[in-house]
Amino acid sequence: MCGIVAYVGEKNPLPIVLDGLQRLEYRGYDSAGVFISNRNEKQTTKVVGKVAALRKALSQKVVINATMGMGHTRWATHGEPAYQNAHPHVSNSGNLVLIHNGIIENYAILKKELILRGYTFESETDSEVLVNWIEEIQKTEKLSLAKATQVALNQVIGAFGIVLYDIKNPDKLIVARLGSPIAIGLDKDGYFVGSDATPFLEHTREVVYLEDNEMAILQPSSPLEVLHIQNGKKLDPEIQQLKWNLENIQKDGFEHFMLKEIHEQPAAIRDTLRGRLLNEEGKIQISSFNEHQQKFLNAGRIIIVACGTSWHAGLVGEYLIESFARIPVEVEYASEFRYREPILYSDDIVIPISQSGETADTLAAIKLAKQAGAFIYGVCNVVGSSISRETNSGMYTHAGPEIGVASTKAFTTQIAVLSLIALKLAEIKETLPQHVLRNYLNELDNIPEQLEQLIAQKKIVGKIAQQIYQSTNCLYLGRGYNFPVALEGALKLKEISYIHAEGYPAAEMKHGPIALIDEDMPVIVIATRKGHYEKIVSNVQEIKSRKGIIIAIVTQGDVSVKEMADYCIEIPESSACFTPFFATLPLQFLSYYIAVLRGCNVDQPRNLAKSVTVE
Ligand code: F6R
Repeated sequence: MCGIVAYVGEKNPLPIVLDGLQRLEYRGYDSAGVFISNRNEKQTTKVVGKVAALRKALSQKVVINATMGMGHTRWATHGEPAYQNAHPHVSNSGNLVLIHNGIIENYAILKKELILRGYTFESETDSEVLVNWIEEIQKTEKLSLAKATQVALNQVIGAFGIVLYDIKNPDKLIVARLGSPIAIGLDKDGYFVGSDATPFLEHTREVVYLEDNEMAILQPSSPLEVLHIQNGKKLDPEIQQLKWNLENIQKDGFEHFMLKEIHEQPAAIRDTLRGRLLNEEGKIQISSFNEHQQKFLNAGRIIIVACGTSWHAGLVGEYLIESFARIPVEVEYASEFRYREPILYSDDIVIPISQSGETADTLAAIKLAKQAGAFIYGVCNVVGSSISRETNSGMYTHAGPEIGVASTKAFTTQIAVLSLIALKLAEIKETLPQHVLRNYLNELDNIPEQLEQLIAQKKIVGKIAQQIYQSTNCLYLGRGYNFPVALEGALKLKEISYIHAEGYPAAEMKHGPIALIDEDMPVIVIATRKGHYEKIVSNVQEIKSRKGIIIAIVTQGDVSVKEMADYCIEIPESSACFTPFFATLPLQFLSYYIAVLRGCNVDQPRNLAKSVTVE
């Protein structure tokens, strides 16, 4: 799970590669490297650490005028984060240079074979094996580099997104993908390559996303050539227009991307709802539904598959769909689903949810469900991502790029999409009375504005953070729709502040976690008025009698919980089904402020990467 970027053409490749790598750091950041070349010279620079360290290393060196550049930011799989394991990797002859994202599963067998044939290795990586395997095929079978690459890629097992360069053929790059994304930007002067399109947003609007088992030959003087890796057939690349722009991926004066993305939620949800929630007409319009309406009407069951935060959104989706549309819903961790031999029927609808659209387990779960004949309706943020292309149909969340590793606006826009789906299902199945449906549409329409007002209260959350940031454990409790919010709040705290936190259904507390509560334990309780209020008031009492530090998220004007809680955050009154929008926001702020107070790297927490493209 790494970021790759490359450029070949008239422009200076180094700034393109370095700025591109910076934008791709969400994919991993334990080491980084660049290779640049012109027709006579070549230069490699690698560091252990982030792209900033790579820039520094380059500034201490005389840099050549290059015509081609490639760069890599790594998230270690084979081999620890170390200089020799950083990319690019060079073949034994010194001619071929490779950057690779993915895992070559049969690398050990190939490596053994290469060692028998006299090859030596500097790194522990599967990528160095791949570049030498290509070289060996090129040499022994006397093939062009493109042909040798095609043959080699048919022999490897695993996943790859690669950029390959031959110093003897300096105006050409070969790229290929299987399981790891490759986006190619096109302009009149040359070609850009990225793990996604963010590295070349300011340079071109035209992009081709390679499909699995496709490779491309990039030569600035020639049209883009795309081939099928398995049969070598020439393919017609589909050129798409990019919608995101540079402003979308900059910090806009915020200290961190996460903070910016928390603030962006009202606008992001507006974008999610735009053209779909037609409040004045009292209906929901989902274009992809029209075509498949019958499938939804006939659905015996909906299975949601996802990981992490997207899985939490899936739980909210389960409550929404079952309550509004009375269709049974199961929510599965994609990583469990794919390996546990699930029973699937042809009238099942599988809804994968993913921000990045590249999560390996979710992708594998989709493939499994597809094979079983299920209809796959995806909820995804990144346009053109692997998941969005693997599904039969679906909806984009339109949250815009999410750069902070901790998901924020992805979650709330996912629940906005799931609300739309649940309401649309209720509309077509006539499971909700008309006036109830209209009220829900109205409420949903007002959410962005109410969230804007809620953001204005962030200072209160900042003060609470100061009281608890030194804690070592935290408990998050919620019932009904707020149970997934408790899970999400705990996950946010864990991942960016490294405080151990657990989310629990509030009533389950008595069955174990209550033993943990003492005067040092902050307990964050979501105790909104709609949704089991009396029950949660008793849970708060139970915490109080054990001297826990109570931080309550309550509905504006609350009295009972406020009397017992140490700290309170008020959120707007809403139907229970929409409280996750409001209750999540202060929890995102809370984890953010705590992480800042603890001096943690908010946008790039240790050991994490934004998209998990390995299982
Ligand atoms: C948590 C987080 C992860 C992701 C998970 C799934 O803040 O970001 O838990 O939610 O890795 O990623 P996507 O949604 O890209 O499939």
